[in-house]
Order: sequence, then C-alpha cells, then structure tokens
Amino acid sequence: MNTVQQVPDLSRLSSRIPAAPSIGSTTVSQPDHIHLSFGFAADSLFPLEVLEQSALQAIRQDGTRALQYSGAPGPRYILDWIQRRAASHGIQAGTAQILVTNGATQGIALAAQLLLEPGDEVWVEAPTFFSALQAFRLCGASIQAFPIDGDGVQVDKLEQALIGAVREGRALPKLFYTMPVYHNPGGVTLSLLRRQQLADLARKYNFYIVEDDAYAELNFTGQTYTTLYELAPERTIYLNTFSKIIAPGIRLGWMIAHPLLVSRLRILMLGSSTAVFTQEIVAHLLDQLDFEQHREQLIRHYRSQRDSMVAAIRSELGDQVSFALPEGGFFLWLTFPDTVNTAEMQPIAEQHGVSYVAGSHFYHDHSGHNHLRLCFSYCTEERLVEGISHLAAAYREYQEEQLHQGADIPMRY
Ligand SMILES: Cc1ncc(COP(=O)(O)O)c(C=O)c1O
Repeated sequence: MNTVQQVPDLSRLSSRIPAAPSIGSTTVSQPDHIHLSFGFAADSLFPLEVLEQSALQAIRQDGTRALQYSGAPGPRYILDWIQRRAASHGIQAGTAQILVTNGATQGIALAAQLLLEPGDEVWVEAPTFFSALQAFRLCGASIQAFPIDGDGVQVDKLEQALIGAVREGRALPKLFYTMPVYHNPGGVTLSLLRRQQLADLARKYNFYIVEDDAYAELNFTGQTYTTLYELAPERTIYLNTFSKIIAPGIRLGWMIAHPLLVSRLRILMLGSSTAVFTQEIVAHLLDQLDFEQHREQLIRHYRSQRDSMVAAIRSELGDQVSFALPEGGFFLWLTFPDTVNTAEMQPIAEQHGVSYVAGSHFYHDHSGHNHLRLCFSYCTEERLVEGISHLAAAYREYQEEQLHQGADIPMRY
C-alpha cells in the first residue's frame, strides 16, 4: 500500500482554527519526569472496583437499551442526581434546565457557540483557563481580560470598563467567563460581595455569565459560597463536571441554564445526546457509591497534597515567590519577580526533570511572563516535594544564567 499522502489544501480550512493547539508543547513526555504541569486527577482515587461492577451491570441489566440512541434509564438517573446535587449547592433547577455534556469543556464550547457571532466581545479573568480562551477564539471572539486578586476577579475594573464602553459607544461583552471557586490557575475564590456586584452588572449591562464550577466539590475548608447562578439565574450558564469527582476519562459534565437556552443548546448538539452507555455505567456507579464519603476522601487527599506542595515551596523558594493559598481545587499559581520569564526557564526545568505550565498560556495576550501554574493533584506527595526541589534548582540555574547575560533588563515577550 502506498502510504505517501497528498498534502491537503489547508487554505480551504476555517481560518479560525490555529495550526497548533494553544498548549501541548509545554508538557514533557518523559515518563520519569515529575509532571507538575498536568491538571490531572489522582488516579489512586478513581473508584475502580465500583466502576467495574457498574460496567458489568450496565451491560447485563439493560445492555441493549444502553447501547441504543436512547431508552435506557441511566441518563434519567444522572439528571436526577445532578438536580439533587445542584440543590445542595443552592441551585434550584428542573431537569429541563440540565444538559449532560461531554465534560465541562464541551459546556464552555457550547455556551460560546450559543452566544457568539464573530467579532463579539468576550470578557474573561486574567489569568483564565486556556481551553476557554481557545473556545472563544474559535468563535471569532474579541477577548478582554480583567485581573484577579486574592478575592477573585476585580469586579470594579470590570465595571469601569463597562462604563467606558458605554460612554465611548464601544461594544459590550456578550459573556463573561469566570471560575468563581478554586480558580484554574489562580487558586482563588470570588468573594460574596463581588459575586453580588457581578450579578448586578450582568443585569445592568445585559451580558451572560458563564460560571465554571468545575472544582466546586473539592472544598478544603467547608466554607460554602452562593453561586452566581443562584444570584442571577436568568443571566447565568452554569457548568460542572464529573471529571474531578469521579474520573476525567468518563467525559461527563453538565450545564444548567434557563430551559429556553437549554432547548437551543440541544439543537447545537445536533440532537445527539452525550454517550448513553457511559451514562448508564455512571448511573450504576452513583447508585452504589457513598458519594459523601468518596468526596471526603478526595478532599482529605487533595488538601494534604496541597499542604505538602505549599510547605515544599516555602522551604525551597521562600520569598522568591508569592501565591494565594487555594481553599480547594488542583492548582497553585506562583508569581516570581518581574525579571523572571517562566517560558524561558522551562527548558531548564525540563533538564531538571520537572514540568509546569508557563503563565503566558493563561492570558489572551500571552502576558503573565513571571507566573507559572503547578498542579498538586496528580503526583504523589513524595514526588511533589521532589518536583519542587527540582524547580528550585532550575530557578537557581536560570538566575545564574540571567546574571551571566547581565540581564538587568526585564525579560518579556
Ligand atoms: C476550570 C475548568 N473547567 C473545565 C475543565 C475541564 O473539565 P472536563 O474534563 O469536564 O472537560 C477543567 C479541567 O482542567 C477546568 O480546570
């Protein structure tokens, strides 16, 4: 067989699709490296035994219906489960308001497709989740970003920009994308006051809030927060996922929105529901799993991972870095002195056998040169501590190189 292929005519492809993904080159492939870049769940916590039982039950009890387009009981069970779980977070939603998706990432993409025309304004946090940036770019959005601090996004800056846009006759945002709890990558949580202000702004300036609550269940402190959905249900498209509480590979998440929006989102999914068979398995799993106990186990594990990483950073990098202590989630966001460029430091870190995600990936304009994201969820505690020690060694080497280059000029790109 002739395997030489004709090069396809790439000029016929949509100009909105970049030639390469926005992230990928930043992760190292060597298996012996310590992957502090991977935003992965801890595989030791996947409920494998219950999943095995559940998969067997899905095949044996209702296999033929579960393998059809529809008709199996699993999807209905999942909807009811999500409805109850959402209610426990203060979200009162009927099942007509819930759409099960192929992960929260699909939820972001669907929300973007639902709302955006090319050229529309999308406003985001700086930094923000890189896949969301990619989803908005793919819709041809014009992106503006607003800084976060220890209390989440600085809503006063957003308000100033809205006032300025009205005064100067510029376009207002169609949507504001936010991760109000345990932000990826910032680790911070939006204060109640700012939530209320944001909900008021959405009403006043007529934009939608896309609330990405992916880490909501991984709450290390017990402190609960009122969701933006609860504060402005008619203005909010709410997203969540089973990735962080069961396993990312099952690719199940959900959206909650007004039924009129959900019925259009169903049209966007071209009438195809999210994998029925997977939902059937997960329905059996949720039926058997003591979810509260499972969640507490996840929290205990991830909190301890966070504490180990924080202690290692404090001892190895001391006052060279600053960060907010995350009250949940997976990530620590380090800020180095302004002269540091974490993208330039990356090859040195790789030589030391450790990976991270350089800060620029989380900014629509590729700024954020002196930040980096570390993930504490994936590696064992021992490896986390070892990884931080490698990172500190890489940083020292990078600083020495900078000194040799006489680099007193801040390095940026
Ligand atoms: C904020 C945020 N939203 C969504 C996702 C993706 O979730 P899913 O696996 O459900 O697509 C992630 C995962 O990294 C995330 O950090």
